[in-house]
Amino acid sequence: MRLIFATHNPNKVREIQAIVPSYIKIQSLAELDYNTPIIESGYNLEENALMKAKTVYDQFKRACFSEDTGLEIAALHGAPGVHSARYAGENATDKENVQKVLAQLGDEPNRKARFRTILALVMSPEEIYMFEGLCIGNILMGPQGVHGFGYDPIFQPNGYEKTFGEMTSSEKQAISHRTHAFEKMNSFLVRYRSPR
Ligand code: IMP
Repeated sequence: MRLIFATHNPNKVREIQAIVPSYIKIQSLAELDYNTPIIESGYNLEENALMKAKTVYDQFKRACFSEDTGLEIAALHGAPGVHSARYAGENATDKENVQKVLAQLGDEPNRKARFRTILALVMSPEEIYMFEGLCIGNILMGPQGVHGFGYDPIFQPNGYEKTFGEMTSSEKQAISHRTHAFEKMNSFLVRYRSPR
């Protein structure tokens, strides 16, 4: 089964190809020579994911999915959420985004947070499915570790002594929000391929 992954990010394509079972062949937008930027102007992760998947489906008329992820912090009422990539400004670096989160939290004792991934799968205009993956944890007082990206150095998943930034990529992958969302999509696709 071929599925287009509606992203321009080659790192995500690689990460996802490693998670999905071998019967699914992921095609990237780069392979399809599709370079048009995809607008992400939704008010939440669901809207953004849907917008991306529908845009690419309309272009190729072939099954496609997209993914949108955000860090949601309880004491910040769910921020940075859908604004995670640009929290400290349009061209903000990961470091600047992390610093803004830490500054906003200050010494707030409630450090509860979660990563949330939404996958939108468009099989046809009438068949649109969404899958959610969560990883729950806490925001530390300062960055720890140099692995990963984004908010990894300040996020410690529940039940672990290390931050995502201190984990190897396979340690993180075993418990990550993205993996959980992809597992749900995988089991859906297995049933979709061979309906009872
Ligand atoms: P995207 O929708 O997956 O591109 O994610 C938006 C932003 O959320 C990224 O720019 C990162 O700052 C943050 N983010 C997404 N996934 C992760 C993750 O697994 N670890 C840390 N930060 C992440």
